[in-house]
Formats: sequence, C-alpha cells, structure tokens
Amino acid sequence: MPIRQLPEDLINRIAAGEVVERPASVVKELVENAIDAGASRIAITTAGGGQSLIRIEDDGVGMDEADLLLSVERHATSKLADDGLDDIRTLGFRGEALASIGSVAELTISSRRAEDASGLRLAVRHGIKARPVPLAMNRGTIVEVRELFGNVPARRKFLKSERAEAAAITDTVKRLAMANPGVQFVLDGADRTASNWPGHAGEGALRARLGDVLGADFGENAVPLATIRHGMVVTGLAGLPTYTRANSLSQYFFVNGRSVRDKVLVGAIRAAYADFVFRDRFPVVAIFVAVDPADVDVNVHPAKAELRFRDAGAVRGA
Ligand SMILES: Nc1ncnc2c1ncn2[C@@H]1O[C@H](COP(=O)(O)OP(=O)(O)OP(=O)(O)O)[C@@H](O)[C@H]1O
Ligand SMILES: [Mg+2]
Repeated sequence: MPIRQLPEDLINRIAAGEVVERPASVVKELVENAIDAGASRIAITTAGGGQSLIRIEDDGVGMDEADLLLSVERHATSKLADDGLDDIRTLGFRGEALASIGSVAELTISSRRAEDASGLRLAVRHGIKARPVPLAMNRGTIVEVRELFGNVPARRKFLKSERAEAAAITDTVKRLAMANPGVQFVLDGADRTASNWPGHAGEGALRARLGDVLGADFGENAVPLATIRHGMVVTGLAGLPTYTRANSLSQYFFVNGRSVRDKVLVGAIRAAYADFVFRDRFPVVAIFVAVDPADVDVNVHPAKAELRFRDAGAVRGA
C-alpha cells in the first residue's frame, strides 16, 4: 500500500488514544485546564462512571470567541509563550487535550470572560465543530463531555465497571485537590456521594486540605516536612512509621504541582523508612517537591503522569 497522509480527524482520534485512556483522564485534563485558568472554585459532576457525563465548571478567566474556536484545535495553546519546552509553569502545554476529547465524545464548551456581556457555547461532536451560540452565564468555563468513546467501541470495551471508573475519577480529583489547597473543589453526580472541600489560605492550607482529602486520621499520624536543599523545596506530610498500609496506593507524590508516579521519589521514601517499617508495609505520605522547571522534563508521558529529573541524585538527597 502506498503511504498516505492521514486525515485530521483520524490523527485526532489516534492522539486521543494516548491522552484519553479512560474517563478519569478526561477529568484530569479538564480540571487542569480550570486550574491553569486561575479558577478559585471547580465543580466536577460525573454520571455512568464518567462515560455518560463529565461536567466541569470553573470560575476562571474564560475565553473569547476566537480563543473558544481555537481551543478545540490540535496543537493550539495559550500556554507556551515562546517555542521552548524547558520552562513549563502551567499544567498544560501541548494544546492537545480538548481536541482529543472532542474527537471521541460529544463535547460542549461554554465560556465567558468577565469583560464580556454574555458567554458563548461551542459544541463539537466526534471532531465536528458547530457554530458557537450565545448564552447567559457567569464568568468562567463549563465543559461537558457526553457519550465518551461513543465512536470508539474498541476503547469502550476496555473500560472497567462504572463503579471502578467512578473510583478512578475520585482518585484523580483527590490528587488535584491535594496539589491545589487554595481552590474549592466540589465533586458530585450520580457516581458518588458528594464531597465539598473549601479552599484554604495561609500557612496551614496544605495540612487542612490533606486532612479534607485523606482524613483527619492522617494529619494526626504524620509530621510536616519543610526543607530546602540542592535548590529544591520539599514540603508535605510524612506518616509515622506506625501508620502504614499494605500497598503503595496511599503514597502521593507531586512535583511542581503535578501528581506523578516516580521511581526516584518512591525509592527515596523506601530508603528513608527502611529502618523503621517492615519491608511489606508502606508508610502513608504526601510529598510535594518544587524544583526549577528547567530541571525537570514533563514532556515524557502522554498523560504527563511521569517526568524526568535532570539530577535524580539531588532529588533523592533532598
Ligand atoms: N477551563 C478553561 N478556561 C479558560 N481557558 C481554557 C480552559 N480550558 C481550555 N482553555 C484554553 O484552551 C486551550 C486548549 O486547551 P487544551 O487543554 O486542549 O490544551 P492546553 O491546556 O494548552 O495543553 P494540554 O494539551 O497539555 O492540556 C488552552 O491553552 C486554554 O487557552
Ligand atoms: Mg489542557
């Protein structure tokens, strides 16, 4: 067969396969967008394990018509001022998430900036854009995703039960809430009993949020961390050696506000606790590392769940 250039729509569906693995990936992308938009309140509603409905409402900066139309195009982003990838300070940077989601679902984005008289709603179905229509709304953005993977039966088959997908969404939102204690998070919908975590300010904000999300128990059985070493800031809560779990699911790691899985950090925790906990037990920790964005590559994983440190030794040491 001769080589052919693939059509735009197919390119988007292929990209979506990497970015949007399951409903929780959609929630992650949309909440990250809300955080990047400076929201102080983010409300997340899901039904059917996120497959029938995901709705994310924020009170961030919103978009005007031109931006709204561009937002669902592939490789269109407001977050890279120049063409470098070595100073990323936002959660998004590829301009890929909305285009991907729009290619495998029924997507509507309603948005209004504070300075505009009314908002606009843009609908995209399986990659096809409709003309935006005006609507009355508050400042901010509401993104609704329905019938996720409606046009991708292969992907639908690999989804777990509604319950399991809903649980993955809850876990995703918890991590985002832990990393952003100043933002109010409301999580509700048919998938669960509702949670409402108010935004916290000031010195005890992180501790208060970790208490909201992980339970007051954890706060009482953990010590706060606050160190600066090798140009890195390490904060968070480290559980007492007596407060452990049978697996590592309750070990949370964040780098520059991003929840990550990282061997370096997991290894550092294992080593630090080696003399205090049994080999088959895992301390509960929530560790936040802040490094110069130039010292970490976040562009190594399609869902940005992993990253690469320039100097892993220094990170371990810190
Ligand atoms: N909730 C929102 N509020 C305001 N603007 C938004 C919102 N969501 C998306 N946008 C705008 O749409 C653009 C495209 O969003 P999209 O998530 O597709 O890409 P990105 O965030 O730039 O990069 P990435 O693909 O890495 O997430 C963003 O750069 C931003 O300008
Ligand atoms: Mg994004």
